[in-house]
Amino acid sequence: MQIAGKVVIVTGGANGIGRALCHRFAQEGAKAVIVSDIDVQGSQQVASEIKSVSIPANVGQEREVARLVETVTKDFGQVDIFCSNAGIGVAGGEEAPDADWQRSWDVNVMSHVFAARAVLPQMLERKEGYLVQTVSAAGLLTQIGSAPYAVTKHAALSFAEWLSITYGDRGIRVSALCPQGVRTNMLRRAEFAGGAFLLDTAIEPEQVAGDVVKGIADEKFLILPHPEVAKFFQNKANDYDRWIRGLRKLQASTQVLGTK
Ligand SMILES: NC(=O)c1ccc[n+]([C@@H]2O[C@H](COP(=O)([O-])OP(=O)(O)OC[C@H]3O[C@@H](n4cnc5c(N)ncnc54)[C@H](O)[C@@H]3O)[C@@H](O)[C@H]2O)c1
Repeated sequence: MQIAGKVVIVTGGANGIGRALCHRFAQEGAKAVIVSDIDVQGSQQVASEIKSVSIPANVGQEREVARLVETVTKDFGQVDIFCSNAGIGVAGGEEAPDADWQRSWDVNVMSHVFAARAVLPQMLERKEGYLVQTVSAAGLLTQIGSAPYAVTKHAALSFAEWLSITYGDRGIRVSALCPQGVRTNMLRRAEFAGGAFLLDTAIEPEQVAGDVVKGIADEKFLILPHPEVAKFFQNKANDYDRWIRGLRKLQASTQVLGTK
């Protein structure tokens, strides 16, 4: 799919990868790029930079995602591309508070379900539409130091592939964006353990946005801004025990919160 002339929604559009996606979609000649976020001021700022509009929504709340899609459809005619990009990272393992597990589930998984429920009816009717889910390399591999992140990103990837299998023959395209470290607030905060280690190979959000535009043009399911992730994923599939031993070594060499 080409971006030019399309109506695009980007959640988590106020910062980081989402902000870079908004700028890049605007450059590519999208008809409208709707910047959505819980960070109202940040999304207004990005919208003014690209001469577009912002609509606040908490992606963990179904009624807010539904309202976002309804408003955009009313104001711009339709939604062609929904970039479900907002996500959060929390530190910890099985001991992490239930509230952190639930928040991770709502924002990293249910947000994609709510987006699909809201946009699929109109896309299926037109036999065309694109869902881009920002997952993470953690969805293919793991996240050292954050079980809620690793688990919910696996679930997000699983939902993306299920959508693609189920609706691909009816004109729906799905891409799962799976980067490793990207220089954004999430990584800088090193909000979840393992983040500091990822800084070493981190790339800029603008590079990720370029890869997304190429991935959409090529209609590729997996978008891997760090190409080495494909090799790591193969290693995992080829010899799971060896891969787990390797990750234990990586964990031992990484300063992980809570295990010092
Ligand atoms: N930065 C990385 O290294 C990295 C790597 C792999 C995947 N990711 C994923 O990329 C996506 C974007 O993250 P980022 O790195 O740009 O982080 P970021 O913190 O810079 O931006 C995330 C944005 O999402 C918004 N947000 C958070 N919760 C929300 C909610 N409930 N509803 C609406 N908006 C909400 C925040 O306000 C923020 O603007 C996330 O899904 C993240 O998991 C990031």
